[in-house]
Amino acid sequence: MLEAFPNLGLPKQTFYWTKSLAKSLGRLLVKRVRRDSTVVASEYDGGHWAKLLNEAPWQNFNKAKDYLAGVDSSALVCRIGNQYKKVTKQDYYRDRIYALSEFIAPYILDTRRVVELGCGTGYNLLSLATSDPELQLEGYDLSPNGIAAARQLFKHFGCSPGIVLDQIDLTLASHPNFPAIHNKAVFTFFCLEQIPYSIDKVVENILRQRPLRVVHVEPGVDLLRAGNPMDWPNWLYVRSVDYQTQLFRCIERLESAGQLKVIERRRLPFSPTIQNDGMCIIWEPI
Ligand SMILES: C[S@@+](CC[C@H](N)C(=O)[O-])C[C@H]1O[C@@H](n2cnc3c(N)ncnc32)[C@H](O)[C@@H]1O
Repeated sequence: MLEAFPNLGLPKQTFYWTKSLAKSLGRLLVKRVRRDSTVVASEYDGGHWAKLLNEAPWQNFNKAKDYLAGVDSSALVCRIGNQYKKVTKQDYYRDRIYALSEFIAPYILDTRRVVELGCGTGYNLLSLATSDPELQLEGYDLSPNGIAAARQLFKHFGCSPGIVLDQIDLTLASHPNFPAIHNKAVFTFFCLEQIPYSIDKVVENILRQRPLRVVHVEPGVDLLRAGNPMDWPNWLYVRSVDYQTQLFRCIERLESAGQLKVIERRRLPFSPTIQNDGMCIIWEPI
């Protein structure tokens, strides 16, 4: 477990903290990003996911957990609990397979059906399938290249034979795949961050389908404490890349209107950087 790794000493922690703040500040001042659908399509469908589909790195692995951990043994400064640690990328991602499953498990309730909205290339779904092969999984994403890669990935490892992987546009209430989430446990993981100007619409679209329970794990500014310097890199990073900041407010507004009930708010206890923590809000329709 990564908790057992030594914490970074104060001088190194200060170095990475300063570097993160300086980079985010530079981005804010010099290269302001507006995260609209063109930016998202070029970063994901035409960027990371097109490259992954083309390279098909899963073909180099026989076991899903080896693919998920990867072979990169270079150093990664990450955040585990409230500590900065330096570990290898491989150690971090091997640990993350089970850490994600442990985190999600209590929210799945009795249902064995779990849906990820914005599943990208299926990395999280493959982690869940590896930890609990009995889960019935579904994943939906805007990116055709992401979904094509996810289908190849699951076919290659032969796990979750019944898995459904298909496209969705979360901003489109009439999308034909939206009804698939009815009465199921649903999660989003670093997906709504990409749709900062449509948060109200997306949450209302999800709510309308009456899922059983919804877990959002998204970077944001909620749950950050101004008095804690360790939170400052998160705050500045989220602003500098134009990630969403309205999710908690939107859900709390719907709770005040009697449409849903917030079950829990908490921070994801692990992050592969010191500047992009997952803020979790878990809710159920009323
Ligand atoms: C940062 S990636 C996260 C992928 C995956 N959740 C993971 O953790 O590996 C963000 C994903 O959100 C998807 N996305 C962006 N806008 C979307 C939309 N309107 N509807 C559905 N998915 C969307 C992107 O295509 C991309 O795959």
